[in-house]
Amino acid sequence: IPTQIYADAKDASRAVAQEIADLIRAKQKEGKNCVLGLATGSSPKTVYAELIKMHREEGLSFKNVVSFNLDEYYPMQPDSIHSYVRFMREQLFDHVDIPKENYFIPDGTVPSALIADFAQRYDNKMNAMGGIDFQLLGIGGNGHIGFNEPGSLINSRTRLMTLDHSTRAAAAMEFGGLHHVPKKAITMGVSSIMNAKRVVLLAWGERKAPMIKSSVEGPVSELVPASYLQAHPNVAFFVDTRAASELT
Ligand code: F6R
Repeated sequence: IPTQIYADAKDASRAVAQEIADLIRAKQKEGKNCVLGLATGSSPKTVYAELIKMHREEGLSFKNVVSFNLDEYYPMQPDSIHSYVRFMREQLFDHVDIPKENYFIPDGTVPSALIADFAQRYDNKMNAMGGIDFQLLGIGGNGHIGFNEPGSLINSRTRLMTLDHSTRAAAAMEFGGLHHVPKKAITMGVSSIMNAKRVVLLAWGERKAPMIKSSVEGPVSELVPASYLQAHPNVAFFVDTRAASELT
């Protein structure tokens, strides 16, 4: 996996935002939509901040952007301060000119009997748009991508996932205690990520170093879902020196 190492998250994020902006503009020229797969969490915040800056300062338009978010907690109300809908609006969507009908985030309010149905429609919509042009990812301390926890299969699709204890523990602070963290999430599957034309994974800080090493240098294994990316033809990891510190 090609690994681009930067002094800090800001430098790396600038490079990633530039790549996304170039793609959006290239698609604009062709009169086409640009389909982005987007992540939440702390890692992509600096990328979104750069994109907002480019929208304000360079007139980068998101009118032709269609986006699919990786995941949402389940259950989750969209107006909750913990929802990924809220996160995306605050971190990106409300600050750029993306049309409201162009972004999709798994619905944390679907009745459980209808989740399979919802998931199928989410995948169908993605496929109808021609699949994802550019997929942005973070990586969990356990190697998850999206909320595809260890054990997820390479051909997995959008579905309900039971979150690992470590994933819930990582979110406990934000939720004001472990028992407030939802036990489940709806996540895009590994197959949609693998089908994306370009995949960029972000990792900042020492906490991510062991899983960066395992996914880049270890065997491809369902125990480390990010290791599936070794088989992707157009993937890159953008990391800071700390996250890269265990690479040989
Ligand atoms: C979020 C997501 C997760 C996070 C991962 C890392 O949409 O899919 O896989 O990317 O848990 O989270 P941070 O960036 O907060 O360390």
